Amino acid sequence: MPSKAATRAQKLRAQIDEANHRYYILDDPAITDAEFDALLRELIELEERHPEIRRADSPTQRVGAAASERFAPYEHARPMLSLANAVSFDELRAFDERASKLAGGPVEYVCELKIDGLAVALEYRDGALLRGGTRGDGRVGEDVTPNLRTVRTIPLRLRSSTGSRQGLKFAEVRGEVYLRKSDFERLNAQRERGGLPVFANPRNAASGGVRQLDPALTAERRLSFFAYQLVGDDGLKTQWAGLRRLQGLGFPVNPHVARLPAIDAVFKYCADWERRRDDLDYEIDGVVVKVNELALQDRLGVVARDPRWAIAYKFKPREARTKLLDILVTVGRTGTLNPNAVLAPVRIGGVTVKSATLHNRDYIESNDIRIGDTVLVTRAGDVIPRVVGPIVSERSGNERRFRLPARCPVCGSDVDHPEGEAMSRCTNAACPAQVYERVRHFASRGAMDIEGLGDVMAQQLTERGLVRDISGIYALDTARLRDVPRTGEKSVESLLRNIERSKQRGLARLLYALGIRFVGSQTAQILASDFGTIDAIADASEEDLRHSEGIGPEVARSVTLFFKQPANLEMIERLRRQGVVMDAPKRVAATNAKFAGKTFVLTGTLPSLTREEASSLIVGAGGKVSGSVSKKTDYVVAGSEAGSKLVKAEQLGIAIVDEDGLRRLLSSQVR
Ligand code: IVH
Repeated sequence: MPSKAATRAQKLRAQIDEANHRYYILDDPAITDAEFDALLRELIELEERHPEIRRADSPTQRVGAAASERFAPYEHARPMLSLANAVSFDELRAFDERASKLAGGPVEYVCELKIDGLAVALEYRDGALLRGGTRGDGRVGEDVTPNLRTVRTIPLRLRSSTGSRQGLKFAEVRGEVYLRKSDFERLNAQRERGGLPVFANPRNAASGGVRQLDPALTAERRLSFFAYQLVGDDGLKTQWAGLRRLQGLGFPVNPHVARLPAIDAVFKYCADWERRRDDLDYEIDGVVVKVNELALQDRLGVVARDPRWAIAYKFKPREARTKLLDILVTVGRTGTLNPNAVLAPVRIGGVTVKSATLHNRDYIESNDIRIGDTVLVTRAGDVIPRVVGPIVSERSGNERRFRLPARCPVCGSDVDHPEGEAMSRCTNAACPAQVYERVRHFASRGAMDIEGLGDVMAQQLTERGLVRDISGIYALDTARLRDVPRTGEKSVESLLRNIERSKQRGLARLLYALGIRFVGSQTAQILASDFGTIDAIADASEEDLRHSEGIGPEVARSVTLFFKQPANLEMIERLRRQGVVMDAPKRVAATNAKFAGKTFVLTGTLPSLTREEASSLIVGAGGKVSGSVSKKTDYVVAGSEAGSKLVKAEQLGIAIVDEDGLRRLLSSQVR
């Protein structure tokens, strides 16, 4: 008869193996990190109390999961260790006590943000990237060299100019491949449009990206990298010097690393970053605390699977399980039916979550999410909470499958589910839910920028039938606005003034404000500057439109479709009669305009100008704004978080300016 401990250990091992498999191999975790850690801790303790039940193949003897068989094995010359977790300051203090006892005094630490991505090792020989692999089980990972070569911040050659000694013959660099939150949102939006399943979090998307069989697919994910460990430089004395050396060799090192004199400062660092984690454009799930002195690291050594010279302080989890009480359907601006989860309220990372997105019908079906299920919910930073999937083992049999309504829940019209598209749509363009979303978008900042016409006002106006389509905004007057509750004379006056002013925003802003599918502000800008008037765009064929730079078949089709609808043309006529400007600002007479004949491309976020503002400055000076960088581009205006366009500009040797540079060009006398 196996003992009680042995039975329990066996159950834990099976659960951990299953969780590892789902996490590492399927990229589809079913339990939270915190739950996983709790299982592993329990097993470690059990095996410590009952050494007789310990087994060589127990997950406690391994660092992670075995490598999948899709890639060639990548053997690590030195094992890639994992870290023990501390979930409280008490546990951090215990870690410090062990270290300072051995050191015989206070220990200096290096604190690094714990990036939530995927650990990789990179080998360089004579300064060139030779191969790279995932961690796998710590001994053997997967050889993903071609994929890692596509990660733009991983240097293919080391810089050898800085550092104490020239060119390392051999170096191994370890670090984290991750996906920026902004890139994650873009990727998911793209997948949603293409009817592909969306990723639950940036980490899964990054991990799946590194493990693609086609490197071109890896490249599309736009992965990023932070280096945190240099192996093979015997001259190093501290982790801190290692980080600086990595930087000198050309690696991105996280800018928030800190060298701290003792554990109290570490507490403060951890508390600060737990509070500020949402300020970052990448996910972190904790802080890695490392003993700075490498000699002391060696003396502290490694016990079982974890080094004793480093520990991961884990932030409070932002995943939780809860009951899916119901699924409600709302209607979006383009008539999309959006299923939303109604959840039993649950605290996630200090916030109570009661609802979450379920994306679309396909997402619910492919993840087999049912009403009544216990589900896993994540809330990642400022990203909307999302339901990751059901915990199938918790099913009672009373769960119900969800069916999307056949009629629009707001206006009762037919619902269309076009072949090959992820979203179902209400077919009635006058559906009040659609009108509300359109009005809200029309008045928003990047669009017609009507101050005072925010969400609440848009709702009041559409619910009361005061505005039945966009042109209704310009038919508003004092008498009609009198009925809207909680609006005083002053605010009515100022709203009407702002509405009046918005008529002058010009063609590009108007085009964007109309909310035509796939026409973002940049596309609108291009169409406006190429065609000049709304009539020219309305008359253009798909082929005409595609002559414009960056306008693909999808956009061209959507634009012609929009201008074919009689209701849209009538609405535009009403806008025209109401005095809304429908031309692009006249380009200043070609020869004496400062930017005549010059093409600009905007990328990234500028410190003070919005994209629209920058574009109109350029167009106003006779220049052209294009969506993509080519040899014909004269200037690239780059802000923070600039991406591939900047890289391309550098490759083509095109002049790159920042916002100040743009202003200088505008005000300079000479061209
Ligand atoms: S050091 C022995 N530093 O956290 C040292 N790890 O278990 C091992 N991670 O999977 C790693 N940021 O992928 C280290 N600045 C950082 C890190 C970091 C993220 C990940 C790493 C590993 C896990 C620790």
